[in-house]
Amino acid sequence: MKWITYNERTRVFTLRTRNTMYQMQVREYETLIHLYYGADIGDTEATHRIVCLDRGFSGNLYEAGDDRTFSLDVLPQEYSGYGNGDYRINSLEVEHEDGSDAVHLRYEDYKIQEGKYSLTGLPAMFGDENEAQTLEITLYDRISNLKVHLLYSVFPELDIITRAARIENQGEKQVKIQRAMSMEMDYTHKHMDLVHFYGRHAMERMTERQPLHHGVQSIESKRGTSSHQHNPFVILCDRMTSEKYGDCYGFALAYSGNFRCEIEVDQTEQTRLVMGIHPYHFSYRLEKGDVFETPEVIMAYSGDGLGRLSHIFHDAYRSNLIRSKYMDSPRPILVNNWEATYFDFDEEKLFRIAERAKEIGLDMFVLDDGWFGNRDTDTKGLGDWYVNENKIRGGLAKLVEKIHGLGLKFGIWIEPEMVSEDSDLYREHPDWVLRIPQRHMNLSRSQLNLDITRKEVRDHVMGQIFKVMDECKVDYIKWDMNRSVDNVYSAVLPAERQGEVFHRYVLGVYEMMEQLVQRYPDLLFENCSGGGGRFDAGMLYYSPQIWCSDNTDAIDRLKIQYGTSFGYPVSAMGAHVSTCPNHQTGRTAPFETRGVVASAGTFGYELDLEKLTEEEKEMAKEQIRAYKKMEHLVQTGDYYRLSDPFKNQDHVLWEFVSKDKKEVMVCGVQLRNEANPHIHLIYPEGMDEKRHYQDVETGAVYTGAALMKAGVALPLGKGDYQPVRFHFVMVD
Ligand code: DGJ
Repeated sequence: MKWITYNERTRVFTLRTRNTMYQMQVREYETLIHLYYGADIGDTEATHRIVCLDRGFSGNLYEAGDDRTFSLDVLPQEYSGYGNGDYRINSLEVEHEDGSDAVHLRYEDYKIQEGKYSLTGLPAMFGDENEAQTLEITLYDRISNLKVHLLYSVFPELDIITRAARIENQGEKQVKIQRAMSMEMDYTHKHMDLVHFYGRHAMERMTERQPLHHGVQSIESKRGTSSHQHNPFVILCDRMTSEKYGDCYGFALAYSGNFRCEIEVDQTEQTRLVMGIHPYHFSYRLEKGDVFETPEVIMAYSGDGLGRLSHIFHDAYRSNLIRSKYMDSPRPILVNNWEATYFDFDEEKLFRIAERAKEIGLDMFVLDDGWFGNRDTDTKGLGDWYVNENKIRGGLAKLVEKIHGLGLKFGIWIEPEMVSEDSDLYREHPDWVLRIPQRHMNLSRSQLNLDITRKEVRDHVMGQIFKVMDECKVDYIKWDMNRSVDNVYSAVLPAERQGEVFHRYVLGVYEMMEQLVQRYPDLLFENCSGGGGRFDAGMLYYSPQIWCSDNTDAIDRLKIQYGTSFGYPVSAMGAHVSTCPNHQTGRTAPFETRGVVASAGTFGYELDLEKLTEEEKEMAKEQIRAYKKMEHLVQTGDYYRLSDPFKNQDHVLWEFVSKDKKEVMVCGVQLRNEANPHIHLIYPEGMDEKRHYQDVETGAVYTGAALMKAGVALPLGKGDYQPVRFHFVMVD
């Protein structure tokens, strides 16, 4: 099947996936005009959607002569330049050597290839010639000879299209890129809602849905990371779109640094979305022959609501973005000592926790912050990646040997991008941090960003960490990052390249992570940035899971995990049972409920196992057994959001359905109990209507249709925050 075609006569490019279609056309004056993205429309080329009108104050190309109807100010484009009569938000801005900034992008040629394109030093989806096909369209600016190669890969079976731009200076003179978006999407209407995921530390990815309005709105991060505050995943959808019905488009930027997604509704009710690296404090100088590649945007369209859109992203990430061998094999269930001890531990305490972990059936012990240098508080020690033998007497290797001896795996916490002023590393290399000359540095959590744009800095840090990993045979790494990037200036770059620091920082992170995953192919790698401050598709290329939030409160987690699930698979969300009253909120929720919520992710415990009561220990053993039985649903099943925690005051429910529909699990929390209660019916989804399913606990048998259409009653509550769990299996 030809998934990408070019019609020589009409000059229309058509990109197809199993259920979607994308079209663009080379039009008058070699402009590249966007025609359509959405449901499959058969063999029609949607050229009829382009209507040219004379619009006042919308400039016309010089070549158009007296024809005032052809204006780039209102025509939908694929990748807009600057200085060509289009005053909307644009994709590319440059500064030429003479100070001028126009860039008029015109079509040059195209290439279709089997398989997926890749980007140098950047994360991206991968796919062989059976999975993906790539179209490269080259646009060029005649005067500067700057070329823009627009890259499109289609993943037909996944209903995914990816985009990126490769910018190449083929001119004689230097060009400075001031803004280079990864993609642009022009819609000829505005009646859409924007769904996005905002938040803050410990309350990441809250969900907000708002109608688009005239003017520009943006979702962005200038913090050097993708951030807790906004997430580089957004959805545009019809006003009526719900979980089950309606049109929606998802855009995910596979990038972990500054980003911007801008959306403009223009004077003629059209909508333009651009997404890519944030232009703030960004520029990139291209000498003759140099190339700059933007990060990738992963796009999907669903005509069947937001639930289906999420499934598309979940499946795509699981099969063609996440590379870990743990993607398809069970993840060790862990205990992490952070909330159990914080910095106050010694080797005996740690080993006692490990022993308790073994007793209740856990698979791995994770040693969090505080094991290295003089790290007794969060004010010091970062950068000194050798064991603190005052705390871990006898050395780490000996402790790890004992933990391995229990039959447990061993994991460890690191924060490689950082340094404390009170550290040997800083005392030795005070010039290795990002620092603006002559100015005080801004601190955050008393720490500084290392200048990891520098190779010698990266190599030094990773060298230390590799030594520990080799000596201790580490099975799992938690890579943390606990401040935003600031003091943005690199001592080794010339003035005219300081606009590259933010991006080079991200490339440095990716290079370090790539070294880690190449060197230790069996490692389980978890990302983290003060919880979920870097929860993005870029990070998933390196690690199959990310610590979802520093907030372990099961009730707050309902919102956090709900919001995260729109764009990311639940198997990527680190989720732990912690103690009560919860350390972040002071709230108390039943142990079982904490287990149900943490089981909707990569499961683990983060509390002092020595302090568990006998009853809690038994419950923990049961939770661990239960998780092992359901883990395949978390890892490979379809995930449904059955209720919205931002709207539903009574209960929050979700569901896992195995791909063959033979096994279904509905889980959740009843938030509050009432006297003389209502009966709440819940309606599972995704089952086979005609087959029969048995409720594993009660033995009752229902048709799939009965469960999905007639519903099943929630158990009557026994108090607030009660757990819900139904397990159905197909019986015929
Ligand atoms: C922030 C992380 O999200 C926590 O889980 C913990 O690892 C601390 N950092 C340690 O400093």
